[in-house]
Amino acid sequence: MFRKVIVLLLLITLTSAWWLQKPPRATKETLSQLDGEIRKLLKEDPERIGGFVRLAFHDCVGRGRCDGCIDHHNHDNKGLAVYTKVLNNLFTKFSNRITRADLYAFAAIVAANYASTSGPDAVFKMNRFKVGRRDCSRSGQEDDNAETFPGPNMQNVHELVNFFNKTFGLNLRETVALMGAHSLGRLRTKNSGFEGPWIAEVVQKNGANILDSRYYLEIVAVHWFLKVMPTNNKRHQWQREGPSMGVGNSVNASLNAQPDNILIHSDAALAFNFHLDENGAFKPGKECIMCSIVDPPPAGDLPCCDIKSAGRQLCIDYALNNTIWMHDFTDVFYKMIDNPDGKLTLPISVPVRPRPPPHRRLKHDSKNQDEKEAQDDVAFEKIKQKPV
Ligand code: HEM
Ligand SMILES: *[C@@H]1O[C@H](CO)[C@@H](O)[C@H](O)[C@H]1NC(C)=O
Ligand SMILES: *[C@@H]1O[C@H](CO)[C@@H](O)[C@H](O)[C@H]1NC(C)=O
Ligand SMILES: *[C@@H]1O[C@H](CO)[C@@H](O)[C@H](O)[C@H]1NC(C)=O
Repeated sequence: MFRKVIVLLLLITLTSAWWLQKPPRATKETLSQLDGEIRKLLKEDPERIGGFVRLAFHDCVGRGRCDGCIDHHNHDNKGLAVYTKVLNNLFTKFSNRITRADLYAFAAIVAANYASTSGPDAVFKMNRFKVGRRDCSRSGQEDDNAETFPGPNMQNVHELVNFFNKTFGLNLRETVALMGAHSLGRLRTKNSGFEGPWIAEVVQKNGANILDSRYYLEIVAVHWFLKVMPTNNKRHQWQREGPSMGVGNSVNASLNAQPDNILIHSDAALAFNFHLDENGAFKPGKECIMCSIVDPPPAGDLPCCDIKSAGRQLCIDYALNNTIWMHDFTDVFYKMIDNPDGKLTLPISVPVRPRPPPHRRLKHDSKNQDEKEAQDDVAFEKIKQKPV
């Protein structure tokens, strides 16, 4: 008898420990409610589109892959705190229904879909989203393990492929396709030391909030000139205006105020090869212009940069056909957010909120449990009714 009780107790302890450890798997219904909430956030502030997409990338880099942990002390994560803040707020309201890692990844999927529906080729599908990413043990503490992000001064496409192959197992085509995420959002002096969007308003209305292959057209069809940032001489960005002094190519960016969009080396390196020093300036004698494929080189003493790049033809293909890019981008974006450990599953539909299994209810006063669930439901209704 005694033994039986002990065995029973042991069983209960073991199973409940197992149960508690298991992260929640968001259901179709939870995701659909979150979809509505996230779209409201995007409508409220469209800058969140780029913000959420960048956040998912940064969350998926590192040992834990997509793990709901962002280290805000890491300089490469500068600017992400405003986006984790708003999503963490949502997470609190949906706690026990989704992991933080799933929420960050899902927010990016919703944002990408939201941004792509503005165009004629709305092919970024959400029904491939899988759930089951595990949060790191320090989830919510905002200090993940040391993670290495790609530098802004990549000089050729091999350096990019090298990073993305090590990090997400990508090949050349996937690497080039993934970088098109930069059709969204912008760079900010206070975060990265660079300034400007990849797609300017004058080029495309709402450009920075539209997900399409315009980014590649910018890389291959525009003359770009390298400028040093007046705020930081370790930061060089590509701008549209020619060198104002007619010498060198690292002229002070503010001598030629940039009204439009920009590229950084890691974008340009998809289709060109450069020789740079550690600050992103040209090595002596290696100055060049990123020449446009459509117009002749501009007058001046600088040669066009080397176009013998394995990524160049892909950039041209994507620039000419958004459907092809969208297709590749969707695939590679899911590859990035889908941890390869095989634990992810498509969400199941659970129309009625599941009750905890009986062995767990044993531990609680079931009246309290019901009350708690009723409170949850009220909170939930409030979220749903919150005005836009
Ligand atoms: C070589 C690889 C990459 C480099 C060097 C790079 C670098 C940067 C930098 C410097 C910024 C500006 C941050 C700021 O000043 O606020 C930025 C923003 C951004 N990045 Fe990347 N990135 C890379 C790859 C990616 C990838 C793979 C994605 C997504 C799949 C991505 C998505 C974004 C987005 C959407 C923004 C705009 C964020 C906003 O508007 O707040 N990037 N990136
Ligand atoms: C990249 O990674 C994949 C799988 O991890 C591998 O098969 C491939 O050979 C790697 N290299 C390139 C350049 O694609
Ligand atoms: C660039 O120009 C600005 C304004 O003329 C000046 O304040 C700044 O010191 C210059 N920076 C460099 C690196 O020359
Ligand atoms: C883009 O590519 C798709 C798929 O290959 C093709 O069906 C479509 O006609 C192409 N569109 C343009 C504008 O070339």
